[in-house]
Amino acid sequence: MFYFTGSKRKSLIATKAYINDLSSHVDTEVTLSGWLYRGRSSGKVLFLVLRDGTGLCQCIVEKGKLHDETFKALKHLGTESSLTITGTVRAEPRSPGGHELAATAAEIICESKDYPITPKAHGVDFLLKHRHLHLRSQRQWCIGKIRHTVIDAIRRFFNDNGFTLIDTPIFTTIAGEGEQTLFEVDYFGDPLHLAQTGQLYLEAAAMSFGKVYCFGPTFRAEKSKTRRHLTEFWMVEPEVAYIDLPGLLELAENFVSSVAAQVLKDNRPELEAIGADIKALEILKPPFYRLTYTEVADILTSKKTADFMSAQLADFSNRKTEIENQLNNNENELKAGGKKWKMEKLGQQITDLKAELAELEVKIENNPKHAQLAADFRWGKDLGGSDETIISLMHDKPIFVTHYPKQAKAFYMKTDRTNDKVVENFDMLAPEGFGEIIGGSVREDDYDHLVEKTKAQGYDPASYDWYLDLRKYGSVPHGGFGLGVERTVAWFTGEKHIRQCIAFPRMMDKVYI
Ligand code: 4AD
Repeated sequence: MFYFTGSKRKSLIATKAYINDLSSHVDTEVTLSGWLYRGRSSGKVLFLVLRDGTGLCQCIVEKGKLHDETFKALKHLGTESSLTITGTVRAEPRSPGGHELAATAAEIICESKDYPITPKAHGVDFLLKHRHLHLRSQRQWCIGKIRHTVIDAIRRFFNDNGFTLIDTPIFTTIAGEGEQTLFEVDYFGDPLHLAQTGQLYLEAAAMSFGKVYCFGPTFRAEKSKTRRHLTEFWMVEPEVAYIDLPGLLELAENFVSSVAAQVLKDNRPELEAIGADIKALEILKPPFYRLTYTEVADILTSKKTADFMSAQLADFSNRKTEIENQLNNNENELKAGGKKWKMEKLGQQITDLKAELAELEVKIENNPKHAQLAADFRWGKDLGGSDETIISLMHDKPIFVTHYPKQAKAFYMKTDRTNDKVVENFDMLAPEGFGEIIGGSVREDDYDHLVEKTKAQGYDPASYDWYLDLRKYGSVPHGGFGLGVERTVAWFTGEKHIRQCIAFPRMMDKVYI
């Protein structure tokens, strides 16, 4: 089949196929439709890597096997041009995806000239400004696929375990997680807030359906520019009537393990492609670790933690020396010159090493401060990000930290029945430094105690009348938790900043596109 693009466009006869389905088309002729991911030429043969949204496939275009003009156009085709390529599928284990296409025809749909994202490294700011294009990068694609599975697995887990989905409102009338992080909106002249949590509404629904969950975008006007904070993120929240704290922990560990198992089942190639720690996901099975807040406070102020922090500092310094040496070598090689692709690869390595070095320098600077914060930790304070990181670095599986001091936590949490200084709550910290992924609790189910708590935290009980009603008419012990999707995806993928784990991130200091 020979033909060229333009006014003489003909329709293709070969079967339309997707790259992730090429194994069922070996030795037959198919047409792939996609975008040029990268291309190189070795005289009479072009090696074009096509991506079609399902994977990558190397297409071998030999001069003479298709129209001369087509060959010439393909030779100079810019990255991210859209095109279709027809050819015979061959099994090729060395090729990305395990197959390649011996091209017999091609049609250029839209030429892309001077694609702004080039193989040379770009800064974070540049990439976020070009997010609409950067989403096409392999790393973003892999993360997007993994996020898709995480969301699918979340829904499956709750749907398969007798939970009913309740869509809680986004315009809300009351605060759940502190008034200082509410986004106010003008609702026809009256102030309302964007949902910080669906929990309070979900508690009402749990009294009707027993086991419920909500899943949607959540908004926090959090003045935090950390790698763990977005102003708009996705949270899933289950809520269960007649459950206690041990029951909630068991639900949470079964839930997280099942999501991890689904990601391992569906996304192994993507996890491998981005260098995620697959072993860490494989051991994600119940039971997770359980520590009380008081035990954590003791650990933070112990000699064990001081030693752990010193050892970590030594590791950082050693790694810094390694990187500096490697950088020196790479820069010398770059100066010596060589083939274009090799120079581009070296350039990319240098940028990655410099980024790692910059991060290490921050870690080396922060380590003594975090060690000091841990040593000075006093019972009663909420755990800070650095405290959570230290505890989570000491473990290989998630840790449930339970029974926080009452004054450090939300008004709706149930006071512990045996110790009125603490509440029946938990945070789940992901291991290896990823920090908090889940926050949850048993809820205060006693009317008088809840009124007292709303007042103690400076809220007007009159604004909470409907929520308080739930404690008047058939109140029962109940509880639930919330899991942040972006933090989970960052943990599973090893992505450092959660902004990479949502397609169009919203951060405190910037909304790019
Ligand atoms: O601990 P949080 O604030 O808990 C609640 O909102 C409860 N109402 C949940 C419940 O019991 N139904 O938030 C739960 C999780 C956190 O552990 C974190 O994973 C995520 O939501 N999260 C954020 N993720 C990204 N950016 C932020 N600013 C986040 N704030 C919380």
